[in-house]
Amino acid sequence: MPAVVVLGAQWGDEGKGKATDLLTTGSAIDFCVRTSGGHNAGHTIVVDGKKFATHLLPSSILTKSCVSVIGNGVVVSPEALFREYDAMVAAGVEMGELKISANAHIIASYHSTIDKITERFLGKNKIGTTGRGIGPAYADKINRIGIRMADLFDEHILAQKVEGALESRNHLLTKVYNRRAITVDEVVEDLLSYVGRLQPMIADTSLMINRALDEDKTVLFEGAQATMLDVDHGTYPFVTSSSPIAGGVCTGAGIGPTRIDRVIGVIKAYTTRVGSGPFPTELFDQDGEDLWRIGGEVGVSTGRDRRCGWYDAVVARYASRVNGLTEFFMTKLDVLSAWERIPVCVAYEIDGQRHDEMPMTQTDFHHAKPIYEYLDGWGEDISGCREFAQLPANAQRYVQALEEMSGAPFWAVGVGPGREQTVVVRDQ
Ligand code: GDP
Ligand code: IMO
Ligand code: MG
Repeated sequence: MPAVVVLGAQWGDEGKGKATDLLTTGSAIDFCVRTSGGHNAGHTIVVDGKKFATHLLPSSILTKSCVSVIGNGVVVSPEALFREYDAMVAAGVEMGELKISANAHIIASYHSTIDKITERFLGKNKIGTTGRGIGPAYADKINRIGIRMADLFDEHILAQKVEGALESRNHLLTKVYNRRAITVDEVVEDLLSYVGRLQPMIADTSLMINRALDEDKTVLFEGAQATMLDVDHGTYPFVTSSSPIAGGVCTGAGIGPTRIDRVIGVIKAYTTRVGSGPFPTELFDQDGEDLWRIGGEVGVSTGRDRRCGWYDAVVARYASRVNGLTEFFMTKLDVLSAWERIPVCVAYEIDGQRHDEMPMTQTDFHHAKPIYEYLDGWGEDISGCREFAQLPANAQRYVQALEEMSGAPFWAVGVGPGREQTVVVRDQ
């Protein structure tokens, strides 16, 4: 299986880090590529009880034999990159090689400044961004005033480009937000300070990945964020500013869609969301608090509490459709062990009408009320199970029922955060 995509099927934090780590250690993955987002991601990997978090670095960085790649579709803060990289070194991680696309756009300090101020000005209408400068950096890219990795290697061009970008940004900062203007020199000086370390990492990553696929090497594309946070297909405007769906892998890595063999949607056995925006199955009662507590639902990047709710099969079917999923990897089944009866949303009721598919408009989605089916719980600890047949009968039934309503086969199920706490439902 030369090209495998791993992506989020809900609103993020489904366990993409665990799935990526599992695949990169379990089989011979030669390259692992991030294709969208930036250090707004927070991916957790637990190896032998030791916890690691990756943000901008692909989760494969813990696997020395795998080349980790940051593709052209990613927005890169050099400061965040080396902070994360150096923390890995300090933790004694023996990292594999890291390559960064020459076309990847840069997040400079003014992007995060603008991100945070914009959110403050939006007040109660805020998106609840991570404040990492993701939206402003992608806005500059689309406005054609972005700065790319390759620009760092020509001081003259870099200064010209920073000047161009700051012209409009400084107007916004000083005239609208009443802040001080940012100088070209301070930005250029800061960015140039990373050139020495970045130089050996910069590469034509599209060429590299395509050549690897030509040679039948295995390439894993590690998604960040998720389907419902996609700028086109998510709950706009409460989304991120990139394309975390499978289609984004092609533009974010520079490969054609015909090269992709497997698209794995990672999905929790319930649902969580960070930041603002609609969430039909959200719980505001004791069940919600219990899911939050038992699931440890606190953000890895920002430390914010995640909103919690029941599994939403409408979202699952939608993710299956817009990504062309070949399979799901369902995580956190173990968290549900405490419930005797588990509600699962099978459809929505909107203004008195049943909707089995995602409604066409956001207004309708805001009014969607979940229609639940109730599945029997299993009431025992399953974190030690390693084979599907070892799961209690009701846990097996829960997995099978969800599989039937979610639009793609289930490849594996997570029964704990550890790499080994995985039950394969069917071998691929
Ligand atoms: P990502 O952003 O999709 O990589 O997910 P996060 O790392 O932000 O959040 C997923 C959380 O769930 C992390 O704390 C993982 O260690 C944890 N996790 C992943 N799979 C499982 C599982 O099967 N069971 C349990 N209990 N935790 C899991
Ligand atoms: P991983 O890869 C969960 C959310 C933010 C906010 C919205 C926009 O760990 O699953 P941004 O800073 O991207 O402009 O914020 O998107 N968000 C995430 N939520 N997991 C993530 O990443 C997220 N990355 C962004 O909370 O609602
Ligand atoms: Mg996360």
